Amino acid sequence: MGYPHKPHAREATVLSKYFGDPDAITLDGWKKRGGYTALKNALGMAPADIVTIVKDSGLRGRGGAGFPTGVKWSFMKPGDGKPHYLCCNADESEPGTFKDREIMRWTPHALVEGCAIGSYAIGAETCYIYIRGEFTEPLVRVENAIKECYAAGILGKNAMGSGKTINIYVHRGAGAYICGEETAMMNSIEGRRGNPRIKPPFPAVAGVFGQPTTINNVETLAAVPQILNNGAAWYKQWMRADNPKSTGTKLYSVCGNIARPGLYEVPMGFPFKDFLYDLCGGPLPGRKFKAIIPGGISVPIQTVEEAEASLMDYEGFVAQGTMLGSGGVIVIDDAQNLVKQIARATRFFAHESCAQCTQCREGTAWTTRILERIVAGDGTSEDLDTLLSIGDNMTGKTICVLSDSCATPVASGIKKFRGDFEALIKNKKHVLVPAAVA
Ligand SMILES: Cc1cc2nc3c(=O)[nH]c(=O)nc-3n(C[C@H](O)[C@H](O)[C@H](O)COP(=O)(O)O)c2cc1C
Repeated sequence: MGYPHKPHAREATVLSKYFGDPDAITLDGWKKRGGYTALKNALGMAPADIVTIVKDSGLRGRGGAGFPTGVKWSFMKPGDGKPHYLCCNADESEPGTFKDREIMRWTPHALVEGCAIGSYAIGAETCYIYIRGEFTEPLVRVENAIKECYAAGILGKNAMGSGKTINIYVHRGAGAYICGEETAMMNSIEGRRGNPRIKPPFPAVAGVFGQPTTINNVETLAAVPQILNNGAAWYKQWMRADNPKSTGTKLYSVCGNIARPGLYEVPMGFPFKDFLYDLCGGPLPGRKFKAIIPGGISVPIQTVEEAEASLMDYEGFVAQGTMLGSGGVIVIDDAQNLVKQIARATRFFAHESCAQCTQCREGTAWTTRILERIVAGDGTSEDLDTLLSIGDNMTGKTICVLSDSCATPVASGIKKFRGDFEALIKNKKHVLVPAAVA
């Protein structure tokens, strides 16, 4: 989808309102749109009151796990005499996910303002924005936004004349998926190899440089200024009447075999069927959807029936056998060899494993070898049981969940699409279903 993006009547535009508007990128343009009023007000409030508003709003982490943001902030103990840190996770490497980069490209000041408010709320004078190594334009725009803020006295020793210090630094990654895992990211910021750390201690106790640290995703932090400006109740207008656990709006990046791929923002609880067919235009001409991965490749694959019955929030996706994850929707149609797609996913995980844990290092590699053998037409009838048994040994046994993430598409794929695997093992090649004649 190109920009400027004309939102569908059923989309909500809390974060994406100014996507495609070049004037919103600059500090002057952002201020004209109400930018930095939230920070100004926040700096006059007690940090605990900001934490309470964010808690009351129901905002949950948009990086994948959905942990309540205000609760996470409340783990940072004020007055402990230690330097506190905020780390913004802008690594965005989950395949199928391209939402944070658009926030950084079009509304970098929304992120900078969110980082400044978050820093003040958790008692941090320093915030690091850890940006994925491959990003160029988003990096330049965020760096420019920070420079503009220092020049205008918004950041620095006397932020907005408040007497408070807020410094924000950009730390560029080197293109490693594992550095999106929060403890690997902290090691990377410290200049160490990006290996995940054993928890506990949790980052709020001993994080970056051994000091209390909070890690939040770009989309999470960019929503904070809007919540402070408009209030917790305003944010909660977007939720299902019967599910107060998921509030606000969510960005979804949509890719694969679908008529209108792109970036969408919808309220929590939006029907996934309407999303796929109405907003995103349904399947390509003559084809049918075969499988949907709604939250980046780390979440379980859905059948079309499960997808069509899903409501788009944390609980709604769980009820239909998957997770909201990062909101990276990957659509696979009936022209695809599903086993080949799953093999591609596991090859990614095998390549990106930090190799620290044996189950992950060996499991991701062996899973990929077996799947690629099946795709090449050399699969055996024992392979599926072997894959499931390897997957069991990769789940819940490692320092971080990259290993689990690799096992997930394989286990859910075999469970829900076993026939595809068996047909490939039997026929030795993928048989393409002809497109329906329109
Ligand atoms: C292998 C791996 C990769 C991850 N990559 C990202 C990422 O690119 N961006 C992100 O925000 N979170 C990522 N996460 C989740 C983070 O560890 C962390 O939960 C998140 O940044 C917390 O922010 P939130 O509470 O605002 O969601 C990843 C987790 C794992 C296990």
